[in-house]
Amino acid sequence: MGNERGKSLLTKLFTNCAHPRGATGRLMLAMMNFGHAPLTNWGLGCVPFRDGWTVLDVGCGGGRTLQRLLKRSKGAVVHGIDISDESVAKAKKVNAALLNSRVFVRQGTAAELPYADGTFDLVTAVETVYFWPALPRCLGEMKRVLKPGGLFAILIEVTSADSVWTRVVEGMTPYSPEQLKEFLEQAGFRDVSIHRKKPSYAAIIARRP
Ligand SMILES: C[S@@+](CC[C@H](N)C(=O)[O-])C[C@H]1O[C@@H](n2cnc3c(N)ncnc32)[C@H](O)[C@@H]1O
Repeated sequence: MGNERGKSLLTKLFTNCAHPRGATGRLMLAMMNFGHAPLTNWGLGCVPFRDGWTVLDVGCGGGRTLQRLLKRSKGAVVHGIDISDESVAKAKKVNAALLNSRVFVRQGTAAELPYADGTFDLVTAVETVYFWPALPRCLGEMKRVLKPGGLFAILIEVTSADSVWTRVVEGMTPYSPEQLKEFLEQAGFRDVSIHRKKPSYAAIIARRP
């Protein structure tokens, strides 16, 4: 009984990773802004940045990745999009100093991005593809909004169903880097490379032809 109760509380907390809501969601967003730093900083190091890029972070959560992106590309303009109201509010707050000048944040889904074809030099997705519906359709959207030659970088640390996270986060679909590579190639991406770091970090980087 105690175990069941403990389990449901944990599940209630961590399922906010999938779609942050209310006070618990705000807590998770603060934790993720901090806790995803090692994966994000390592993974962005695998991307050959250039100055002046226009970048989109899909599933931007609490918005710290947007700041990390600005540091990697001098003069960059970065956009964040997330399905959750709480994520959008937090990302706007965290980026208040540059909001609507070099940082733009809006609500929306990876399945239907509200951006014109060929807008971005780089699209990033940090710890979020597990939650996207109909992944092939979403990958098609990433490709559509990239400029020809633009890069899509997926950063993940859950790479198999054995992970403890799949037991505490409802609605999470883990993918191996190899599966993601296959999906990306099927979606028409090219030059797909897989980078790994212990314990289970992976960066999968693909180019729109
Ligand atoms: C685990 S959090 C990661 C947040 C952030 N990228 C980070 O690294 O801290 C996953 C985020 O993806 C968002 N998300 C889930 N499904 C989405 C979808 N279909 N489209 C856009 N965002 C989505 C969630 O609302 C949540 O903010």
